[in-house]
Amino acid sequence: MFQMEDIHKMNVLVYDNDEKIGIAAGNYMCGQVLAKPDSVLGLATGSTPLKPYGHMIELYKKGAVDFSRVTTFNLDEYCNLDVNDKNSYHTFMYNNLFNHINISNENINFLDGNAEDLEKECKEYEKKIKRAGGIDIQLLGIGSNGHIAFNEPSDSFQRWSHVVKLKESTINDNSRFFDSVDEVPTHAVTMGIGSIMQAKRILIIAIGENKADAIKQLIDGNVTPQCPASVLQFHTDVTLMLDTGAASKI
Ligand code: PGA
Repeated sequence: MFQMEDIHKMNVLVYDNDEKIGIAAGNYMCGQVLAKPDSVLGLATGSTPLKPYGHMIELYKKGAVDFSRVTTFNLDEYCNLDVNDKNSYHTFMYNNLFNHINISNENINFLDGNAEDLEKECKEYEKKIKRAGGIDIQLLGIGSNGHIAFNEPSDSFQRWSHVVKLKESTINDNSRFFDSVDEVPTHAVTMGIGSIMQAKRILIIAIGENKADAIKQLIDGNVTPQCPASVLQFHTDVTLMLDTGAASKI
Protein backbone atom coordinates (compact mmCIF):
# COMPACT_ATOMS: atom_id res chain seq x y z
CA MET A 1 0.00 0.00 0.00
CA PHE A 2 1.10 3.52 -0.63
CA GLN A 3 -0.52 6.87 -0.32
CA MET A 4 -0.65 9.14 -3.34
CA GLU A 5 0.96 11.91 -1.33
CA ASP A 6 4.04 9.74 -0.78
CA ILE A 7 4.74 9.54 -4.50
CA HIS A 8 7.46 11.93 -5.59
CA LYS A 9 7.40 13.58 -2.21
CA MET A 10 10.23 16.03 -1.85
CA ASN A 11 12.59 15.61 1.02
CA VAL A 12 12.41 19.01 2.76
CA LEU A 13 15.05 19.69 5.42
CA VAL A 14 15.09 22.91 7.43
CA TYR A 15 18.16 24.20 9.31
CA ASP A 16 18.76 27.03 11.78
CA ASN A 17 21.41 28.72 9.71
CA ASP A 18 23.54 28.56 6.59
CA GLU A 19 26.53 27.07 8.48
CA LYS A 20 24.47 23.95 9.17
CA ILE A 21 23.21 23.86 5.58
CA GLY A 22 26.80 24.07 4.37
CA ILE A 23 27.75 21.02 6.43
CA ALA A 24 24.65 19.03 5.48
CA ALA A 25 24.89 19.86 1.77
CA GLY A 26 28.65 19.25 1.67
CA ASN A 27 28.09 15.87 3.36
CA TYR A 28 25.32 15.04 0.87
CA MET A 29 27.51 15.77 -2.15
CA CYS A 30 30.49 13.91 -0.68
CA GLY A 31 28.22 11.01 0.30
CA GLN A 32 27.41 10.62 -3.39
CA VAL A 33 31.15 10.47 -4.20
CA LEU A 34 31.80 7.94 -1.43
CA ALA A 35 29.00 5.73 -2.72
CA LYS A 36 30.20 6.08 -6.34
CA PRO A 37 33.79 7.34 -6.70
CA ASP A 38 33.36 8.11 -10.41
CA SER A 39 30.24 10.20 -9.81
CA VAL A 40 29.13 12.91 -12.22
CA LEU A 41 28.29 16.05 -10.25
CA GLY A 42 26.25 18.95 -11.63
CA LEU A 43 27.49 22.13 -9.97
CA ALA A 44 26.16 25.63 -9.41
CA THR A 45 27.55 29.09 -8.73
CA GLY A 46 26.16 31.99 -6.67
CA SER A 47 26.42 32.71 -2.97
CA THR A 48 24.33 29.68 -1.89
CA PRO A 49 26.87 26.93 -2.71
CA LEU A 50 29.83 28.69 -1.07
CA LYS A 51 29.51 27.00 2.33
CA PRO A 52 28.71 23.54 0.88
CA TYR A 53 31.86 23.84 -1.29
CA GLY A 54 33.82 24.95 1.79
CA HIS A 55 32.71 21.83 3.63
CA MET A 56 33.54 19.58 0.66
CA ILE A 57 37.07 21.06 0.71
CA GLU A 58 37.32 20.45 4.43
CA LEU A 59 36.29 16.81 4.04
CA TYR A 60 38.82 16.38 1.24
CA LYS A 61 41.60 17.90 3.38
CA LYS A 62 40.75 15.49 6.18
CA GLY A 63 41.17 12.61 3.72
CA ALA A 64 37.49 11.67 3.97
CA VAL A 65 36.75 11.92 0.25
CA ASP A 66 38.62 11.50 -3.03
CA PHE A 67 37.59 13.49 -6.13
CA SER A 68 40.17 12.00 -8.51
CA ARG A 69 37.59 10.03 -10.50
CA VAL A 70 34.77 12.60 -10.28
CA THR A 71 33.46 14.45 -13.35
CA THR A 72 31.67 17.79 -13.08
CA PHE A 73 29.35 19.79 -15.31
CA ASN A 74 28.53 23.38 -14.41
CA LEU A 75 25.07 24.74 -15.02
CA ASP A 76 25.90 27.95 -16.85
CA GLU A 77 28.42 30.58 -17.94
CA TYR A 78 28.38 34.13 -19.25
CA CYS A 79 28.92 34.83 -22.94
CA ASN A 80 31.68 37.15 -24.14
CA LEU A 81 33.53 37.16 -20.84
CA ASP A 82 37.07 35.83 -20.64
CA VAL A 83 37.10 32.57 -18.67
CA ASN A 84 39.86 34.07 -16.52
CA ASP A 85 37.84 37.20 -15.75
CA LYS A 86 37.23 37.52 -12.01
CA ASN A 87 33.48 37.30 -12.63
CA SER A 88 33.38 34.23 -14.86
CA TYR A 89 31.73 31.17 -13.34
CA HIS A 90 34.84 29.30 -14.40
CA THR A 91 36.94 31.51 -12.07
CA PHE A 92 34.34 31.15 -9.31
CA MET A 93 34.50 27.36 -9.44
CA TYR A 94 38.31 27.20 -9.45
CA ASN A 95 38.59 29.71 -6.58
CA ASN A 96 35.89 28.16 -4.44
CA LEU A 97 36.28 24.44 -5.11
CA PHE A 98 38.44 23.01 -7.88
CA ASN A 99 41.77 24.56 -6.80
CA HIS A 100 41.38 23.00 -3.37
CA ILE A 101 40.48 19.38 -4.17
CA ASN A 102 42.09 16.62 -6.23
CA ILE A 103 39.71 16.75 -9.18
CA SER A 104 41.43 16.18 -12.47
CA ASN A 105 41.28 19.13 -14.84
CA GLU A 106 40.12 17.10 -17.83
CA ASN A 107 37.05 15.97 -15.88
CA ILE A 108 35.80 19.54 -15.36
CA ASN A 109 33.20 20.70 -17.88
CA PHE A 110 31.74 24.12 -18.60
CA LEU A 111 29.61 25.49 -21.38
CA ASP A 112 31.95 27.73 -23.39
CA GLY A 113 30.29 31.15 -23.53
CA ASN A 114 32.93 32.31 -26.02
CA ALA A 115 32.39 29.52 -28.54
CA GLU A 116 32.08 30.74 -32.11
CA ASP A 117 28.99 28.62 -32.68
CA LEU A 118 27.06 28.73 -29.40
CA GLU A 119 24.26 26.47 -30.60
CA LYS A 120 26.74 23.80 -31.57
CA GLU A 121 28.47 24.25 -28.21
CA CYS A 122 25.16 23.67 -26.39
CA LYS A 123 24.41 20.51 -28.38
CA GLU A 124 27.93 19.24 -27.74
CA TYR A 125 27.51 19.86 -23.98
CA GLU A 126 24.37 17.73 -23.89
CA LYS A 127 26.22 14.95 -25.72
CA LYS A 128 29.13 15.19 -23.27
CA ILE A 129 26.76 14.81 -20.31
CA LYS A 130 25.24 11.77 -21.97
CA ARG A 131 28.64 10.24 -22.77
CA ALA A 132 29.62 10.69 -19.11
CA GLY A 133 26.61 8.58 -18.14
CA GLY A 134 24.34 11.45 -17.05
CA ILE A 135 24.49 13.60 -13.93
CA ASP A 136 24.24 11.64 -10.68
CA ILE A 137 23.43 14.62 -8.51
CA GLN A 138 22.66 18.19 -9.51
CA LEU A 139 23.24 20.95 -7.00
CA LEU A 140 20.94 23.93 -7.53
CA GLY A 141 20.32 27.36 -6.09
CA ILE A 142 17.08 29.18 -6.84
CA GLY A 143 16.38 32.79 -7.76
CA SER A 144 13.80 34.78 -5.82
CA ASN A 145 11.73 34.69 -9.04
CA GLY A 146 12.00 30.89 -9.22
CA HIS A 147 14.75 30.73 -11.82
CA ILE A 148 17.12 27.76 -11.89
CA ALA A 149 20.48 28.23 -13.62
CA PHE A 150 19.74 30.98 -16.20
CA ASN A 151 16.26 29.58 -16.95
CA GLU A 152 14.24 32.70 -16.18
CA PRO A 153 10.44 32.87 -15.86
CA SER A 154 8.97 32.75 -19.37
CA ASP A 155 6.07 31.40 -21.40
CA SER A 156 7.61 28.01 -22.05
CA PHE A 157 10.21 25.64 -20.62
CA GLN A 158 13.45 25.56 -22.60
CA ARG A 159 14.42 21.93 -22.75
CA TRP A 160 18.13 21.63 -23.46
CA SER A 161 21.24 23.80 -23.07
CA HIS A 162 20.74 27.09 -24.85
CA VAL A 163 21.76 30.73 -25.16
CA VAL A 164 19.79 33.27 -23.10
CA LYS A 165 19.49 37.02 -23.27
CA LEU A 166 19.68 38.07 -19.63
CA LYS A 167 16.75 39.94 -18.14
CA GLU A 168 17.39 43.47 -16.99
CA SER A 169 16.60 42.42 -13.40
CA THR A 170 19.27 39.70 -13.56
CA ILE A 171 21.79 42.12 -15.06
CA ASN A 172 21.04 44.59 -12.27
CA ASP A 173 21.27 41.86 -9.59
CA ASN A 174 24.60 40.63 -10.91
CA SER A 175 26.05 44.12 -11.42
CA ARG A 176 27.10 44.11 -7.74
CA PHE A 177 30.08 41.97 -8.75
CA PHE A 178 31.15 44.20 -11.67
CA ASP A 179 32.64 47.72 -11.71
CA SER A 180 29.58 49.02 -13.53
CA VAL A 181 26.29 47.67 -14.88
CA ASP A 182 27.59 48.17 -18.45
CA GLU A 183 30.23 45.52 -17.83
CA VAL A 184 27.72 42.78 -17.04
CA PRO A 185 27.43 40.41 -20.00
CA THR A 186 24.08 40.59 -21.77
CA HIS A 187 23.97 36.90 -22.71
CA ALA A 188 24.75 33.55 -21.13
CA VAL A 189 24.69 29.86 -21.95
CA THR A 190 22.78 27.60 -19.60
CA MET A 191 21.64 24.04 -19.17
CA GLY A 192 17.93 23.76 -19.90
CA ILE A 193 15.09 22.45 -17.79
CA GLY A 194 15.29 19.07 -19.54
CA SER A 195 19.04 18.84 -18.89
CA ILE A 196 18.43 19.51 -15.19
CA MET A 197 15.45 17.15 -14.94
CA GLN A 198 17.56 14.29 -16.33
CA ALA A 199 19.87 14.37 -13.30
CA LYS A 200 19.28 11.28 -11.19
CA ARG A 201 19.09 13.26 -7.93
CA ILE A 202 18.59 16.96 -7.25
CA LEU A 203 19.78 18.92 -4.23
CA ILE A 204 18.37 22.41 -4.05
CA ILE A 205 19.48 24.89 -1.43
CA ALA A 206 17.80 28.17 -0.50
CA ILE A 207 18.84 30.67 2.12
CA GLY A 208 16.92 33.78 3.14
CA GLU A 209 13.36 35.01 3.35
CA ASN A 210 13.56 36.52 -0.13
CA LYS A 211 13.48 32.92 -1.46
CA ALA A 212 10.37 31.93 0.55
CA ASP A 213 7.79 32.62 -2.21
CA ALA A 214 9.81 30.73 -4.80
CA ILE A 215 10.21 27.77 -2.40
CA LYS A 216 6.47 27.70 -1.69
CA GLN A 217 5.72 27.69 -5.40
CA LEU A 218 8.37 25.03 -6.03
CA ILE A 219 6.85 22.71 -3.42
CA ASP A 220 3.13 23.10 -3.93
CA GLY A 221 2.34 25.78 -6.48
CA ASN A 222 1.22 25.23 -10.06
CA VAL A 223 3.88 23.80 -12.33
CA THR A 224 4.48 26.65 -14.73
CA PRO A 225 7.37 28.10 -16.74
CA GLN A 226 6.58 31.36 -14.93
CA CYS A 227 8.35 29.66 -11.99
CA PRO A 228 10.90 27.38 -13.69
CA ALA A 229 11.80 25.60 -10.41
CA SER A 230 8.19 24.37 -10.06
CA VAL A 231 8.94 21.71 -12.69
CA LEU A 232 10.98 19.91 -10.02
CA GLN A 233 7.64 18.62 -8.66
CA PHE A 234 7.86 16.14 -11.54
CA HIS A 235 11.29 14.86 -10.50
CA THR A 236 11.39 11.68 -8.43
CA ASP A 237 14.36 12.47 -6.19
CA VAL A 238 14.53 16.04 -4.89
CA THR A 239 16.01 17.15 -1.58
CA LEU A 240 15.60 20.73 -0.39
CA MET A 241 17.86 22.21 2.26
CA LEU A 242 16.41 25.46 3.57
CA ASP A 243 17.08 27.90 6.34
CA THR A 244 14.12 29.05 8.43
CA GLY A 245 13.76 32.20 6.30
CA ALA A 246 13.46 30.29 3.00
CA ALA A 247 11.10 27.81 4.70
CA SER A 248 8.90 30.51 6.27
CA LYS A 249 5.97 30.16 3.83
CA ILE A 250 5.66 26.38 3.62
P1 PGA B 1 22.35 33.02 -5.06
O1 PGA B 1 21.78 32.76 -6.50
O2 PGA B 1 22.94 31.72 -4.59
O3 PGA B 1 23.43 34.06 -5.26
O4 PGA B 1 21.22 33.48 -4.21
C1 PGA B 1 21.00 31.63 -6.70
C2 PGA B 1 20.49 31.65 -8.10
O5 PGA B 1 20.19 32.75 -8.61
O6 PGA B 1 20.38 30.57 -8.71
